[in-house]
Amino acid sequence: MPFPVQRPRRLRADGRVRALVRETVVRPEHLVLPLFVMEGISERHPIDAMPGQMHWPVDQIDVPVREAMARGVKSFLLFGVPASKDAVASSAVDPDGIVPQALRRLKRLCPEAWLITDVCLCGYTDHGHCGLLDTEGHIRNDDSLPVLAAMSVAHARAGADMIAPSDMMDGRIGAIRAALDAAGFVETPIMSYAAKFSSCFYGPFREAAHSAPQKGDRKGYQMDPANGREALRELRLDLEEGADVLMVKPGMPYLDILAAARRAFDVPLAVYQVSGEYSMIKAAAARGWIDEKAAVLESLTAMRRAGADWILTYFAPEAAGWLRETA
Ligand code: PBG
Repeated sequence: MPFPVQRPRRLRADGRVRALVRETVVRPEHLVLPLFVMEGISERHPIDAMPGQMHWPVDQIDVPVREAMARGVKSFLLFGVPASKDAVASSAVDPDGIVPQALRRLKRLCPEAWLITDVCLCGYTDHGHCGLLDTEGHIRNDDSLPVLAAMSVAHARAGADMIAPSDMMDGRIGAIRAALDAAGFVETPIMSYAAKFSSCFYGPFREAAHSAPQKGDRKGYQMDPANGREALRELRLDLEEGADVLMVKPGMPYLDILAAARRAFDVPLAVYQVSGEYSMIKAAAARGWIDEKAAVLESLTAMRRAGADWILTYFAPEAAGWLRETA
């Protein structure tokens, strides 16, 4: 019988009972901090479109890692910004490239950190696309796979704990799995950016990674924001090709996809609170229009509630600090 017998407010009376009935928690160890390591700089440089985020020189990359670890964040996602780019992304497969250099330093100085690397060509190609191009500017899907695979192996050799391909080429998970296995990295897991949408919310990141396409856009490989069923198919295909973890990206506008993925698959799911989501909260908070701490904790809770096991977020160290205060 409904009201007046049913009164859901009874279980909201105060903080003690609210804590008892709370369904979802976020802990610092659920958060992964993305970091940008840049070749050829000697000082950290702030990234304008992402207030509080930096380009780090290799010889300081341990600084943000240590700071975050002191707050309970244990995992990191590394993006490289190389000094040289060309049509075939040569610097992406270089065993002494920017990401391998950072990995070796971090493995030495911060051996407790779990290091994930982003695998994609857009930061390493002069045209800024995530795969190789033919003379007419079309993506050469199948020819891009060995390059992505070689990049993954270079990262694994330098110490990557997990590989995260974000390029959205067809077949890349299978190609990367086979290459890792052949090189002896059978135990290195793959977190696939499996349902990655062609989103305007990556705008600030492209400044950070210097990876905006020179011509055209990414609609030929990243997904149409209108397509939910197709997202489930992409997730399933990557699982079949050998992904260990599936990611949905961006976060907040795509929680329906995350919730559907949670129902459909039993593997761990990650979600990426992307640069645009970060910068929107930062911008509104800077103007006093939103409470930053509350907005961050609410958005992270919503992503966990929708089904994420872990969340990639630029807020990781701050959020971890706030979570410890409130715990
Ligand atoms: C590389 C890549 C992008 C992001 C992660 N990996 C950008 C893009 O696809 O254009 C976005 C991350 C963010 O916006 O925070 N392909």
